[in-house]
This record gives sequence, structure tokens and C-alpha cells, in this order.
Amino acid sequence: MKHFTSVHDIGDLQTALQKARYVKENPFADQELGKNKTLMLIFFNSSLRTRLSTQKAGLNLGMNVIVLDINQGAWKLETERGVIMDGDKPEHILEAIPVMGAYCDIIGVRSFAQFENKEDDYNEVILNQFIQYSGKPVFSMEAATRHPLQSFADLITIEEYKKTARPKVVLTWAPHPRALPQAVPNSFAEWMNATDYEFVITHPEGYELDEKFVGNAIVEYDKEKAYRDADFIYAKNWAAYRDPNYGKILSTDRSWTVDAHKMTLTNNAYFMHCLPVRRNMIVTDDVIESPQSIVIPEAANRVVSAQAVLKEILAS
Ligand code: CP
Repeated sequence: MKHFTSVHDIGDLQTALQKARYVKENPFADQELGKNKTLMLIFFNSSLRTRLSTQKAGLNLGMNVIVLDINQGAWKLETERGVIMDGDKPEHILEAIPVMGAYCDIIGVRSFAQFENKEDDYNEVILNQFIQYSGKPVFSMEAATRHPLQSFADLITIEEYKKTARPKVVLTWAPHPRALPQAVPNSFAEWMNATDYEFVITHPEGYELDEKFVGNAIVEYDKEKAYRDADFIYAKNWAAYRDPNYGKILSTDRSWTVDAHKMTLTNNAYFMHCLPVRRNMIVTDDVIESPQSIVIPEAANRVVSAQAVLKEILAS
């Protein structure tokens, strides 16, 4: 594996899951692989889980780890070519990236959608510049359109908890006070579509995702119908994708909050969310605190997905 930016880089899914299981059972078995190698993690946006789990994954593999928050302590970066740099950004990303590449062996990048230009967001301009100019293997720690380490951890978690070979997995939109990118739902849909699960997406009208990510999923606007007999409820907010509303909040309808009533419609479903989660907007206290909530093991599996990916990159 050279770069890791989506499910398309992981290869055969069953093989990847097998390797992830090995990593989980033998976290320190590959320390020689990362010896004298440096992992650099670049954050353009905040993080708790990705920051900690990816560092932990690198340390488990024997790597040295450097973390840089671009907006705290580094020079502000200009990202556009052709700009006269007489403003508050003293460094251009086209110099900064190869410099960062010179100091490490593998680079992880977190760079969210900015909702200023849909084409730039969906062309993954920042992530692709790292791939083009760093000279090093690059992996996504959540980019503008996908969050593949999260989705891989989600898949590992579903495989651990599923009670039937082909569970019904429901991705439900839920309300949020701020406009959030589509990276997590896009990516989750892409990974679920790579399985043979029954996969349903439910959201209010106007929140349709890019068809490229929806793929063969069933889109069900009636949320109660979608919840029926589900084995997993995966909640997430996202802002509108379609023009002219790209990046806008169209609804804060709290009837979409995951609550105990809707969970009773399911097949005693497990509740999942990538975290951080706004309680009583996305999910009620009683659901997230219930025995069916698996958000903590899901987050714990972020170390496993990151380590499995880093191991593949190191090995190749
Ligand atoms: N789920 C996730 O990526 O969490 P952080 O934003 O805290 O890294």
C-alpha cells in the first residue's frame, strides 16, 4: 500500500479484516517494522480520537511520532497558487509539504471540507497536494470527503458484534447545530457498500449524499421504516451536499434524534457513532448509555484500523 485515502486502497476486505484481527491480538508483534521510522501527523483541524489512536498505532509499531497542528504554533499556510502573499499567511503549502516530507517516512493528514468551494472540497485539493509534493506515503486522517480510518474501525466493530452473517446496517442523519462535512457518512457508505450487508441510509429530504458514495444503498426517507429490524444504527449529522445548498443546514428537526422509541423498532440494534457526539441532539442520554451502545469499543478500534494501515504501508 502506497497511500491510504479510501476503501479502494485497502485491497480485499476479508483479508484486511483478518490482518486487523491479528494486529488487535498482537499489538507489539511488528515493532521492528517501524524501528527508526518517523510518522508525522499533520492536523489542519481539531481531533481527540484520531490524534491519540494514530499516535498509539505508530508507537505500537515501534515508530517515532511527530504531531503538528498547523493552526497552533506553525506558520499559517497559503494553499492557493497565484496568490500575492501580502496577507497573514507567511508560508505556502507548496514549500511546507516537501519540507515536512523531508523530516519523516509516512505522513497522516487531517483536512476537513471548508464549504467554500465544493469542487475544491470534492477534489481533495489539500490531501492530493500532500500526495503530489511530499514524496512520502500519505494517509488520510479525515479529509474533505472521506474518513477511511474511521470507516475501517466501524467495519471491524460491526464484524465483532454482528449476530448474523448479513446484518442490517442503517446510517441515519441526526440534527446538529453546526454545518458538518459529509466525510464520515460518505466514507461509511463506501465501506458498507463494499460488504454484502443490507445497508440503508435514512435522512430528511434535501440531505442526499453524492450518488458516488450512496452506490447501491437503499435510501429510505421514512426513518421509522428504516429503523425496522435494524441490527446496527449508525448516527451522524451532515450538511447538505446538493447545490445550491452545499454546506448548509436545512433542518434541525429533533424527531431525527436517535431515541429509545425508535430503537424499539430495531432488532435490538447496537448504537454506533464516530464521536464526538452532541447528546440529546444526535442521540439521547439513555440510548448512548445503554448496553446496546458500542461507541467506546468503536473508538478503541481506531488504534486497530490505524495500526493495520500503517503496518501495510511500512511493509511495502
Ligand atoms: N471520530 C474521530 O475522528 O474523532 P476525532 O475528530 O476526535 O479525531
